[in-house]
Amino acid sequence: MPETTRLLWRDMTVFNGVQELTEPMAVITQGDRIDTLCPMRDFDTALIQDAHDAGRGKVMTPGLVDCHTHLVFGGNRANEFERRLEGASYAEIAKAGGGILSTVRATREASEAELLELALPRLQALIDDGATTVEIKSGYGLNVADELKMLRVARRLGERLPVRVVTTLLGAHALPPEYQDASKAYIDLVCDEMIPAAVAEGLADAIDVFCEKIAFSVAQCERVFQAAETHGLPIKAHAEQLSNLGGTAMAAHHGALSADHIEYLDEAGIEAMAEAGSVAVILPGAFHTLRETQLPPIAALRETGVPMAIATDANPGSSPLFQPTLMLNLACTLFRLTPREALAGMTANGAQALGAKEFGRLEVGALADLCVWDIQRPAELAYAVQPGRLRQRVFQGVMTHER
Ligand code: NIG
Ligand code: FE
Repeated sequence: MPETTRLLWRDMTVFNGVQELTEPMAVITQGDRIDTLCPMRDFDTALIQDAHDAGRGKVMTPGLVDCHTHLVFGGNRANEFERRLEGASYAEIAKAGGGILSTVRATREASEAELLELALPRLQALIDDGATTVEIKSGYGLNVADELKMLRVARRLGERLPVRVVTTLLGAHALPPEYQDASKAYIDLVCDEMIPAAVAEGLADAIDVFCEKIAFSVAQCERVFQAAETHGLPIKAHAEQLSNLGGTAMAAHHGALSADHIEYLDEAGIEAMAEAGSVAVILPGAFHTLRETQLPPIAALRETGVPMAIATDANPGSSPLFQPTLMLNLACTLFRLTPREALAGMTANGAQALGAKEFGRLEVGALADLCVWDIQRPAELAYAVQPGRLRQRVFQGVMTHER
């Protein structure tokens, strides 16, 4: 088969990123785009000409969009996993210099080449489970050189594997030890040096912050957003994960693409998100791993019409889970999303959380990122946790996986 070609599927059950289409569909890709998406009863056999017959009668979804990950890191935190089993909390471990800071030490020690080798199999795991777009954050370097090193690794990952990598600078993730009691000076560094340096090298597609008692205040995060605005970069926030500080509302007022975690989000925050058009990125993997009990306000988000996205949050501490379809299941079982909402959360709404319109949906003219699954109905993807159901994966019109 030529690199990109004309691929044809018939009698497909299609989840288009928003909903399951009611009729069996024909789908044709041409080059890197979706060329035809039509009900079988309107299918014209002339369309078969020159097309490679890619199959029929299965479930097709957009390629999955994992819009929130921390895939690049050194070391691991199995020891903290064990400590939490003995009763220590995530926040306690963080306060004692573990948590994010222990990954910072390991990440600083690793070279760019080492970090790349460590991250490749993690990204491959996401790809093997259907991801075609993966956002990757920095945030374990916490100085200019090491944050840029992480972002360069993220860019190289996208060159090494057939996946779209979107990068986010998360300099304001934790206060590094050398800035103990000098958080203002650290925020100065993020705003005045880190962001400009990342921009100069074209390494950051967006800017993120961790707004939390164990991280940075609302006012400090707002300064970071102002710096991002100066450079024309979109923003997002880890907010309301462990307490309600109001970071989400502030981020929404600055037009944030998304607010992520948001277990403790209140009504004012939801209203602010709705007004700004920000996406609520819910992260059931972190909720599960940390055994949180405060549920994100799903019903209120749903009623207010705030789009919900779902992501793995794949990272060495709060979510060492590298399987997008597992998140579909956890979002339904833990957060009571419907399978339709969960799937939209990892396709169209995941793309929206990245400010993207060209992927995450199956529609004519969209990029041909798609998955064909060995199941009967889209809901089965959320219902069962069962690796091995990915039959075909197409990235930008190229078949990268077929079995
Ligand atoms: O998304 N909330 C803050 N940051 C990450 C955790 C990273 C870590 O524990 O290493 C998160 O959960
Ligand atoms: Fe995160």
